[in-house]
Amino acid sequence: MTIKSRGKVKYEKPRLVRGMKDILPHDERYWEWIRHKVFDLAKDYGFELIATPILEEKGLFIRSIGESTDIVEKEMYSFTDQGGSSLVLRPESTASTVRAYNEHGMVNQPQPVKLLNYGSMFRRERPQAGRYREFHQFSFEVLGDDQPVIDAQLIIIAHNFFKELGIEPNLQINSLGNKESRETYKKELADYLKPRRNQLCDDCKKRLLKNPLRVLDCKDSSCIELTLDAPQIIDFLDEEDHAHFTQVLEYLDGMEVPYNLNPRIIRGLDYYSRTTFEIWPGENQGKAQSALGGGGRYDGLSRLIGGRDVPASGFSVGIERVISLLKENDIFVPGKKSPDIFLAQLGDVSRKKALMLFEQLRSKGIKVIESFSKDGIKPQLEIANRLNIKIVLILGQKEIIDGTILFRDMESGNQEVINFEKTIPELERRLSLAANNNGVKIRHTVKKPDEPVKKS
Ligand code: HAM
Repeated sequence: MTIKSRGKVKYEKPRLVRGMKDILPHDERYWEWIRHKVFDLAKDYGFELIATPILEEKGLFIRSIGESTDIVEKEMYSFTDQGGSSLVLRPESTASTVRAYNEHGMVNQPQPVKLLNYGSMFRRERPQAGRYREFHQFSFEVLGDDQPVIDAQLIIIAHNFFKELGIEPNLQINSLGNKESRETYKKELADYLKPRRNQLCDDCKKRLLKNPLRVLDCKDSSCIELTLDAPQIIDFLDEEDHAHFTQVLEYLDGMEVPYNLNPRIIRGLDYYSRTTFEIWPGENQGKAQSALGGGGRYDGLSRLIGGRDVPASGFSVGIERVISLLKENDIFVPGKKSPDIFLAQLGDVSRKKALMLFEQLRSKGIKVIESFSKDGIKPQLEIANRLNIKIVLILGQKEIIDGTILFRDMESGNQEVINFEKTIPELERRLSLAANNNGVKIRHTVKKPDEPVKKS
């Protein structure tokens, strides 16, 4: 943005857009660890990665998420592009995954098709803790199968994800039945709420007219209290939906996955039918009701966006919320392994040779770090020290003339002159000795345990 002051054009410093967030290097290990877990789980359970674009047609979400939802009514970043297309920054990825499934004829593949979608979503919500306007989700979606075991296994995947991260998942589950039973229930709920309308918050007064189900989702304490004795959707399910839900619960019981039956889990998106669920933080780990993830069955979504009938089920997890919970609870997250070797150089000729040696070491898979722009040996050794590096290779002018290189043991301070040609075999020997814990020990900044350890 530009402003004019006394005839001069001044530029205002660009700032981070409200509700957005920079992800900084000190958080890299959280993102890496979560990504690792997600992709491991995807592999274990036979999911394949699908990447859909951030820009989609606006109509996709209006038809799938529903016109009267907060997301569509208030939160989508939408614009008309230069060609006149009405586009949005995707607020979620489930509708996109179904669009891609239909568009690429995945219905002709053996069913079910299991897909993982991973990336950033955009919702123009009021920024507050755990609520960003750009956030990241991963979503496991199973398309082309209506069996309750699919819902149960998706819940098990979500459960395992949190357990393996050291987070106690608090599973809240419900069933929304089918469209007809939901309509009957909506009328019944509206009849219950109408005489109590004055006690509802302003938003819920509107919700009562447009979609009374949404009142159950309200976090306002008076709305919660008012709906405590409201009719429950579970009593309106038909026989088939009831049987589906019972089977999901039986699978969970069989796997000893604890859950809480919660008639308020109606979700903020209109495409759900039958099973719906949310994962909240465990009782002692975070604020209840701030969902870490959620999902359910969406058998009607494909039809809503003009495709065939495709039964489907899935869930998404919000990565920022998981990271804040890991931090809040001081849960140990492994960091990057520090490099094994530091390559130091003194003078222009040795810098050239060091540049080449660096590439050779890298191609051999030897983790090496350098600081080529530094001149003196002292600042380079200081960096090596800070990074807990055990071996520093030094190439000075004398070494260039002699065709040698110095191996400096940072613990003892001893230096050995090694024939330059033998640098790689000598390093490999020392590193494998270290790996066997026999000779030189290579220290890592963080060891990589498979299981998270809670700091005491
Ligand atoms: P959702 O409940 O809207 O579901 O979002 C899932 C998760 O994304 C939430 O539980 C939360 O962790 C995170 N999230 C949502 N909004 C924000 C925000 N503004 N800031 C930070 N995190 C946020 C869906 O998106 C569905 N697509 C889930 C699904 C997949 N259903 C079936 N398959």
